[in-house]
Amino acid sequence: MKEQIVKILAEKVPSLTEAEITELIEIPPNPEMGDYAFPCFRLAKTLRKAPPMIAQEIHDSIELPSYIQELRVVGAYLNFFIKKDVFAETLLTQVRADRFGSSDEGEGKTICIDYSSPNVAKNFHVGHLRTTIIGNSLYKIFSKLGYHVERINHLGDWGTQFGKLIVAYKKWGSEDAVKEKGIEELMRLYVLFHQEADKDPALEDEARFWFAEMERGNEEALNIWQWFVEISLEEFKRTYKLLGMEFDHYMGESFYRDKTDDVVKRITDAGLLSESEGAKIVDLSEYDMAPCLILKNDGSSIYATRDLAAIFYRKENYHFEKCLYVTGQEQRLHFQQVFKVVELMGNEWAKDSLVHIPYGLVSLGGEKLSSRDGNVIFAEDILLEAISKIKEIIEQKNPELEDKDAVAKHVGVGAVIFNDLYNQRIKDVSFRWEHLLNFDGETGPYVQYTYARCSSILRKIDDFDASAAVDISFLTDEASLGLLKELSRFPAVVKDAANRYEPSVVARFAVAVAQAFNHYYTVNRINVEDAAERNARVLLVDITRKVLRDAMDLLGITCVEQM
Ligand code: ARG
Repeated sequence: MKEQIVKILAEKVPSLTEAEITELIEIPPNPEMGDYAFPCFRLAKTLRKAPPMIAQEIHDSIELPSYIQELRVVGAYLNFFIKKDVFAETLLTQVRADRFGSSDEGEGKTICIDYSSPNVAKNFHVGHLRTTIIGNSLYKIFSKLGYHVERINHLGDWGTQFGKLIVAYKKWGSEDAVKEKGIEELMRLYVLFHQEADKDPALEDEARFWFAEMERGNEEALNIWQWFVEISLEEFKRTYKLLGMEFDHYMGESFYRDKTDDVVKRITDAGLLSESEGAKIVDLSEYDMAPCLILKNDGSSIYATRDLAAIFYRKENYHFEKCLYVTGQEQRLHFQQVFKVVELMGNEWAKDSLVHIPYGLVSLGGEKLSSRDGNVIFAEDILLEAISKIKEIIEQKNPELEDKDAVAKHVGVGAVIFNDLYNQRIKDVSFRWEHLLNFDGETGPYVQYTYARCSSILRKIDDFDASAAVDISFLTDEASLGLLKELSRFPAVVKDAANRYEPSVVARFAVAVAQAFNHYYTVNRINVEDAAERNARVLLVDITRKVLRDAMDLLGITCVEQM
């Protein structure tokens, strides 16, 4: 519909391209002002006339096609009123299509997403929860557009901190304590190391020695390290399981330890490596950036070196179109430096292909969140708490519900996911139980509840036929048309979310659809006598249900049939 209006306008307004017109066209905030509006302000300069006058002139020059009911000038705007039945029919055809929302624009292209990537022997905290949730949603969104996605978990499993842990473990740890308490115990040892090293700096040398041993392949050191990795992974995987999220590769920093020499050689060959206070760096002052450290003065590689190795490895093995990195914004400079080094090595593709996707902080805003010893918060505990709080609500409100545990899990975990994705990723998110578990707000449970309502309506109607012809006159009222308009945005929403790497676009869409549906449901009876009318009304319920399910799936949330 919009395209046709653009075509009409393009004929009358030669100074703007079709793309520019498309960009300018607005959807008025309320349908009494028409279905589409074209503002004439932009034209005032070229035409040297007042915008309302321009609107009037265009208005007078247009011969109305049959699907337009009325064209009205309101101030500087030209408002188009589409004939309701034509409009409803067009929208219904769109939203009824197979694979509605999907596309194959990504066919044959690969996207690598590097996300989650917690650090071995450290807690999987709320920041890691955010990268996991955003990264997983981007995976879903790009897959929906036909891309092949490689989900990569770049675990922090290598580096000097493991030298420290080995020292601490050998001096003060025990196998039993690590077996029993896992990451918590490893964190305790790590903190202890720093306390002791303040008193006795020789410990730092010992730690450096053990990390150097790891890099040299010392079996004893590697065995301890390997054990710590396994223990940590086991805990991380519990969190992934709760979230219902998976990876194609666990390729942590250690995977690149035998690949960093080659990177250093390539950087040297490109004439980029220089020395600074014994360390090896790439000077980036020309680009207003601090130098990128490549090798420390003892010759050991660092985080950036392993990231460089990872980029070449992925490019050579996955031939990615893009490689996305989802981390907190505090790593912005790190990625700018690393990407610049790749580009300076003669790789033009680095400019468009390597993308850092930063996100804001999670603030706990004085909330009481359960924490373990040492006051650290584990994402796992938050998820478990969300599940148990939802379970309590179910016990109160709907104790007869089947499968209470499964429902509590999907709604509880979904509430946390939704809360993380509802606002633009760069904004800080605050964590408030009373908000995110609210069934009436702009929340996961609200959308879930709407979905379950759709399912429940459908369960009650046994003669519904999704493919039957529809008498469109039953769907031209303001609420039905409003819902159809909202639903029809889905394909554009998915594309927009992908272009901006912004799952919040989908989360907001889900809420908008749920609201439009609840309005539709309030003003229209669904289960009416007349079979044709009933079928038309139920059809919208059925389509809404599918779109809500697909949108929630793009966020990584599983909808429940009853709650
Ligand atoms: N392990 C890092 C952290 O917890 C994140 C790693 C992000 N990915 C990367 N390729 N550097 O902060």
